Amino acid sequence: MKLCNFCCLSNSKNYAANNSLVASSGIYEYPWEIFSLKEILHATNNFHDDNMLGEGGFGTVYWGRTAAGSEIAVKRLKTMTAMAEMEFVVEVEVLGRVRHKNLLGLRGYFAGGNERLIINDYMPNRSLLSHLHGHNADEVLLNWQMRMRIALGSAEGIAYLHHEASPHIIHRDIKASNVLLDSKFRPKVADFGFAKLMPDDVSHLTTRVKGTLGYLAPEYAMWGKVSEGCDVYSFGILLFEIVSGRKPIEKLPTGKKRDILQWARPLMEQGKWDQLADQRMGGLVDLTQLRSVLVLALKCTDGNPDNRPTMIEVVEVLRREIGLGLRVKVKGEGSEVKVGDNKKEEEEVEDGVMVDTPSYSVGRNLAVDMR
Ligand SMILES: Nc1ncnc2c1ncn2[C@@H]1O[C@H](COP(=O)(O)OP(=O)(O)OP(=O)(O)O)[C@@H](O)[C@H]1O
Ligand SMILES: [Mg+2]
Repeated sequence: MKLCNFCCLSNSKNYAANNSLVASSGIYEYPWEIFSLKEILHATNNFHDDNMLGEGGFGTVYWGRTAAGSEIAVKRLKTMTAMAEMEFVVEVEVLGRVRHKNLLGLRGYFAGGNERLIINDYMPNRSLLSHLHGHNADEVLLNWQMRMRIALGSAEGIAYLHHEASPHIIHRDIKASNVLLDSKFRPKVADFGFAKLMPDDVSHLTTRVKGTLGYLAPEYAMWGKVSEGCDVYSFGILLFEIVSGRKPIEKLPTGKKRDILQWARPLMEQGKWDQLADQRMGGLVDLTQLRSVLVLALKCTDGNPDNRPTMIEVVEVLRREIGLGLRVKVKGEGSEVKVGDNKKEEEEVEDGVMVDTPSYSVGRNLAVDMR
């Protein structure tokens, strides 16, 4: 996708009318809207400070209400550096490809002059970060079951990106602030601006390191080697965070920094499982699930990417452990994989072929292999 396509699109009446883009390979239909700047300015009260939802590395996010009455979140990219422009192009392109109940799909965008805006549905329960570490934690403390559902839903969204989207997509910035929560606390993985599209026959790529400290897989942080395993690692850190309510990197009173693995591993080795659970839950935790999820998190954060489970295996383990009973379905000879399809999950599981229990399994075997 060339950048100029996007620069021109905001002015293209034909494009807006047809909502389709002619590419060399044919005509693609995109389900997003093109907003006018006037509409967005009106919706966000001219990007008023009171409408600001938060600020990230690449832009500021504003709440807005459209003339039709729906609530939107508008990400306004900070500066039009080449990198920010690329981020915008990737985000629009990638978001346009994905549709899954646990991914925050693109609602629309605006590109014109120096403005690059990405428009998503507003998620009233904001981010997982705000519920684990921010002020929302005081208002609604996520209970164990909610945490497990958020973990499973997020895993399903990532598994879709890795295994179902074509080409496969590596998110590269899985973290608590990029898991948004809808009105029913259902998770939506957001921010595909860092995403990397993986050609089908390529197992890993070497790139410049992006992402967020504390969540980066070692082979990625050190060598820029990016594969699906990087997201699995970040998801493992996120799992530790969801269970414990601790940040991926904490500053100790001595001023030294400690990462969540350095804190969790010794406690796991000593079998002090209950100390690993977020104390704010007051012990209202299913200990069997707690152990299994922590063992899974440890596997996900294995230093060697080859030893990490795939996201399909992660989904499988989480579904089994948290008792949702749904299994991952493989169509045909196992080449096409459906994970948590949005609409007909129950039906598909009923008619579908179930995956054999994967060779990787933490299951009820709680022995922790700490190698
Ligand atoms: N669709 C949305 N609905 C509600 N709140 C949102 C939405 N999108 C973003 N936010 C809020 O805006 C904040 C900033 O988001 P943003 O993605 O810009 O930054 P970030 O996730 O902290 O960092 P990064 O730039 O690395 O993604 C988020 O933490 C979230 O609370
Ligand atoms: Mg974000």
